[in-house]
Amino acid sequence: TRKVTTHRLVEMKQRGEKISMLTSYDYTMAQIVDGAGMDVILVGDSASNVMAGNVTTLPITLDQMIYHAKSVVRGVKRAMVVVDMPFGSYQGNEMEGLASAIRIMKESHADALKLEGGEEIIGTVKRILSAGIPIMGHLGLMPQSINKYGTYTVRAKDDTEAEKLVRDAHLLEEAGCFAIVLEKIPAELAERVASELTIPIIGIGAGGGVDGQVLVIQDMLGMNNGFRPRFLRRYADLHTIMTDAISRYISDVKNLDFPNEKEQY
Ligand code: KIV
Ligand code: NA
Repeated sequence: TRKVTTHRLVEMKQRGEKISMLTSYDYTMAQIVDGAGMDVILVGDSASNVMAGNVTTLPITLDQMIYHAKSVVRGVKRAMVVVDMPFGSYQGNEMEGLASAIRIMKESHADALKLEGGEEIIGTVKRILSAGIPIMGHLGLMPQSINKYGTYTVRAKDDTEAEKLVRDAHLLEEAGCFAIVLEKIPAELAERVASELTIPIIGIGAGGGVDGQVLVIQDMLGMNNGFRPRFLRRYADLHTIMTDAISRYISDVKNLDFPNEKEQY
């Protein structure tokens, strides 16, 4: 079980083998996801939503991301572990971004980082890359900018935003990023970016014309019933399975059925 490397992901794109990526935020989940054979595990700042119950990704701190990242890394043998740099930890200036990046890498032992943005943060991207830290870009819908957009709707539907996205993707590739996530943009635009770039493009709500797919694990396992965007395929109904198991436990406790003679000392 060789570790998945940035080099291996580029090879996969060249071979036409799609890249599988899912989020994880804790040790137990990461062990399961890695054991299933995932290529890339993202410690997403979506932890702010799915783990902490915040409405946006903005409140999660660098310390909290490092806690999640350490927990995931302990559970992973093969997958590449990528960690989101949280809002506020890299947008200010290059040296602040570098210091945050170094903290995550030093304390979590993750393999790479992901940053949202193109031209606006290219100096920081280059500074972090020059320290030998691999970076995955993130364009299209960037949840850390939700207060600018005011909506989680599809991005880059107009030409101006689409052309900026294509320029940003090229800038990130030229800077030396090893991959880019494209979130919630028209499939045709995502396919164009994937064909123009040499580095792998991982999509979420960006269609099938890209080099890999990423989803939030709680969403694809059907753990949060309310979230059902068009791009999400639910591979399980864990909400129902878990609610049923928990309900049976409650009634077993109430009915003095649990524990029985064999379940005690
Ligand atoms: O935080 C996250 O889960 C992400 C993915 C949706 C790409 O950034
Ligand atoms: Na994220």
